[in-house]
Amino acid sequence: MAELILKTLTKVYTQAQSAAVDELNLGVRDGEFIALLGPSGCGKSTTLRMVAGLESVTSGEIRIGNKLVNDLHPKDRGVGLAFENYALYPPLKVRDNLAFNLRAHGLGAKEINRRVDEIARTLQIQELLDLKPAALSSGQKQRVNMARAMVRRPSVLLLDEPLSHLDARLRVELRTEIKRLHAEQRFTTVIVTHDQLEAMALADRIAVMNEGKLQQFDTPLEVFNHPANEFVAGFLGEPPMNIFRTAVADSRRLVIPDTDFALPIMPAIQKLVGSRKELKLGIRPWGIRVSQTQTDGAVPGVVVVVEDLGDETRVGIRYGEVLIMSSIPVTRRYRPGLPVFLNFNEEDLNLFDPMTGERLSDGSDSSNQPYENAAENEIQAPVSR
Ligand SMILES: Nc1ncnc2c1ncn2[C@@H]1O[C@H](COP(=O)(O)OP(=O)(O)O)[C@@H](O)[C@H]1O
Ligand SMILES: [Mg+2]
Repeated sequence: MAELILKTLTKVYTQAQSAAVDELNLGVRDGEFIALLGPSGCGKSTTLRMVAGLESVTSGEIRIGNKLVNDLHPKDRGVGLAFENYALYPPLKVRDNLAFNLRAHGLGAKEINRRVDEIARTLQIQELLDLKPAALSSGQKQRVNMARAMVRRPSVLLLDEPLSHLDARLRVELRTEIKRLHAEQRFTTVIVTHDQLEAMALADRIAVMNEGKLQQFDTPLEVFNHPANEFVAGFLGEPPMNIFRTAVADSRRLVIPDTDFALPIMPAIQKLVGSRKELKLGIRPWGIRVSQTQTDGAVPGVVVVVEDLGDETRVGIRYGEVLIMSSIPVTRRYRPGLPVFLNFNEEDLNLFDPMTGERLSDGSDSSNQPYENAAENEIQAPVSR
């Protein structure tokens, strides 16, 4: 096992307009589990493939265990790789699929058997060892696929959307399994996913990417509660954060022009608003309380949609082009057309610069740190749990 450091790692495919991966700085601690999270096409797989040595690097550095590996052959990098598509060899039994790479590395038969049995026990696939891939279910194939990546005891384990095409139940089951395995084996692990829940459930830290660029690298709760910018805020959370443009009226209220929306500027955000004339307001559905009685500072509105989801009720209120969704405890009291009042929880308010999308912060949380040299900064703290 080893730490993994990416320094201004960049990939420009020939004939591409922009970089697929753009000056990415990341420091993954020894034994840490991180997720690369972002929409399709943001450069996640390209990053992973460069680390594995399957894709050339345009510029920047990849270090594994403090060794520069940019020009090392894939098999000499000590990485284990599992893709969404488990490329198992159909004519070989599971046992031989697992042993294949170990044989290629010249390990003796006894040692190979020992390791294959051990990893099979760990991943609970002992009873599959004498079957051929065609006889396996998709969940079993993915287990074998991951076993194959781990059997070489890699310094860094790379997983590219390993759960994406499993059905929902199996995905959650295998997700739990991966987490247990990591707690046991403590491989330094990078998982690529476009599924925010998967990233939050699995990773010690999440690197959120968009258009080849790192947006934020922090713990799941930090990324969720203190998103660095509008992109991160909108990408994590279901239902998504309400984010909408407001104008500052008389330095006292945030308004959506030509609607009833007028929110008094609370003391907590006065400094952030400053002398701005316009900003974007972000609030998660859980940060809004809907009530039928008017209280100080409540915003009047009319219910336009009600979704009873069993464990929560979602209520939508429209202001012009903006639909604000709230999530409230299950209740049947609300129906479209009902006049209501919205109470915005002060601590849950996020303000974004309307031009740059950066979240305005008074420095009281740990996000919005500069990412330059993040690799060096991050690596110093030992993993603590
Ligand atoms: N072999 C390739 N040649 C040219 N462009 C590529 C190649 N592979 C990926 N790309 C482009 O690079 C960008 C990032 O792709 P990728 O890393 O696969 O994204 P992700 O895994 O996040 O979905 C995309 O715009 C994609 O079209
Ligand atoms: Mg991909």
